[in-house]
Amino acid sequence: MPVVTDLRVELRAVAPADLEIFFIQQQDPSACEMAAFPPRSRPAFDVHWARVLADPSAITRTVLADGVVAGNAACFGPQDQREVAYWIGREFWGQGVATAALGALLAELSERPLHAIVAQHNAASLRVLEKCGFSRRGEQLAEDGILEIELELER
Ligand SMILES: CC(C)(COP(=O)(O)OP(=O)(O)OC[C@H]1O[C@@H](n2cnc3c(N)ncnc32)[C@H](O)[C@@H]1OP(=O)(O)O)[C@@H](O)C(=O)NCCC(=O)NCCS
Repeated sequence: MPVVTDLRVELRAVAPADLEIFFIQQQDPSACEMAAFPPRSRPAFDVHWARVLADPSAITRTVLADGVVAGNAACFGPQDQREVAYWIGREFWGQGVATAALGALLAELSERPLHAIVAQHNAASLRVLEKCGFSRRGEQLAEDGILEIELELER
């Protein structure tokens, strides 16, 4: 898997202070457009993260780039449909951070297959997944009319 970045990318457990950064990152209009995901209000964000961090089946990590909080990466969902997701702050884009973070998450996870669902227009995320070994399996039309690509990592 080609992971090319000059930054030192590491994962660690999510600390409460990280949530302030994740909140700002998930409000970025360009990021929301890429992910086809609307920003959450602060109350909705807090409810979402409280639920995520309390879910024993969800594996959620803070992504550090040279020791700075760059975003988050996660694996969640039922046993037969484990899904990965990630969100990186815009100032870190285009430097291989998501690819290295997903690679580190995959190294930590023994479960396979893993799945991902990405808006068809999110070329950067599709590229990240394919660089990490995921293959396209199909597509689906989401309720909001966005065409989504389904990807899978078999091994
Ligand atoms: C998608 C996202 C995770 C990518 O993060 P990143 O750290 O910039 O990703 P990387 O640098 O590791 O890799 C991006 C790859 O996509 C490529 N890319 C970027 N924009 C592209 C575009 N418009 N078309 C084609 N490829 C593109 C880059 O060239 C790079 O590939 P390369 O290494 O072969 O050159 C980041 O933009 C993000 O968090 N976006 C908002 C949230 C989101 O979309 N999350 C994923 C939801 S499925």
